Amino acid sequence: MDLAGRVAGATGGMGQVIARELAGAGAHVVIVARDLKQAATLRENVTRDSGPGRLQVMSGDLSAGEGVTCVARRILAEHRAVHLLVNNAGAHFNDHRRSADGLEMHIAVDYLAAYGMTVLLKDALRRGGARVVNVASDSRRDTRRVKLPGRPRPATLDLSALDDLARLNPVEGFVPFQAYARAKLLTVMAGYDLARELAPDGVTVNAVHPGIVATGIIDDLIPAVLRPLSGLIRRSMLTPEQGPQQLCAWPPTPCSLQ
Ligand SMILES: NC(=O)c1ccc[n+]([C@@H]2O[C@H](COP(=O)([O-])OP(=O)(O)OC[C@H]3O[C@@H](n4cnc5c(N)ncnc54)[C@H](OP(=O)(O)O)[C@@H]3O)[C@@H](O)[C@H]2O)c1
Repeated sequence: MDLAGRVAGATGGMGQVIARELAGAGAHVVIVARDLKQAATLRENVTRDSGPGRLQVMSGDLSAGEGVTCVARRILAEHRAVHLLVNNAGAHFNDHRRSADGLEMHIAVDYLAAYGMTVLLKDALRRGGARVVNVASDSRRDTRRVKLPGRPRPATLDLSALDDLARLNPVEGFVPFQAYARAKLLTVMAGYDLARELAPDGVTVNAVHPGIVATGIIDDLIPAVLRPLSGLIRRSMLTPEQGPQQLCAWPPTPCSLQ
């Protein structure tokens, strides 16, 4: 079987592991990378472990519509079918930032990149009878044992802002973790809609939470006061190798409405 895979955001913690595992399973893996040096190292490792030609690197910044469109066009030009799309790119920002398109950065990276890529690749996904995996997060639910005041959860959503994404996660009342959780909530919600649309063509759309994994994103999430203990805190988390295993072991949150 020609197992073509694709991993958006793959030079970081879990992305690297997912790309290596897919290539090892025989897939032709396309990754999107911002840091071409890191991507080259990943390609060397994949070539050493799985042989040449398994990993294709496409340079792109998925926080901008132009970056998403450019990568999607290139994939469509070079690959007739996509069998697996892992929307893994994600980030947490401790301050309010806007993307090149004027959207709050969590909305741009943690929601629109995945949604946009899936929409743009629809035809190739249909041809591949693909599985789409959105790496979402349980942050959208209230999983805390200790409730902190001023940190509202589960994530809330102003439905009136949905027709103008630039109004989501405004500067006023900005709470970084809530902004991240809201973007992941949007990814799950949009996943249901895409799942309904693509199901007749044999495409499934899934959302998964990998567990709490000691990767780069965690550095942003550990409060400043606890940073001196970050080594200890990280040791209590899953490793970047264990996170993706959890993706396989746990039943994914079913977005598929078949
Ligand atoms: N770690 C956890 O506990 C946890 C829990 C729930 C969900 N998640 C989700 O899991 C996914 C993977 O995160 P991780 O834990 O492996 O963290 P990570 O090491 O920080 O990896 C994040 C990946 O996203 C990429 N990325 C970020 N912004 C991008 C952009 N504008 N354009 C292209 N790529 C971009 C990064 O690229 P660079 O390599 O160029 O920086 C990196 O490869 C994310 O969606 C995250 O939200 C993580």
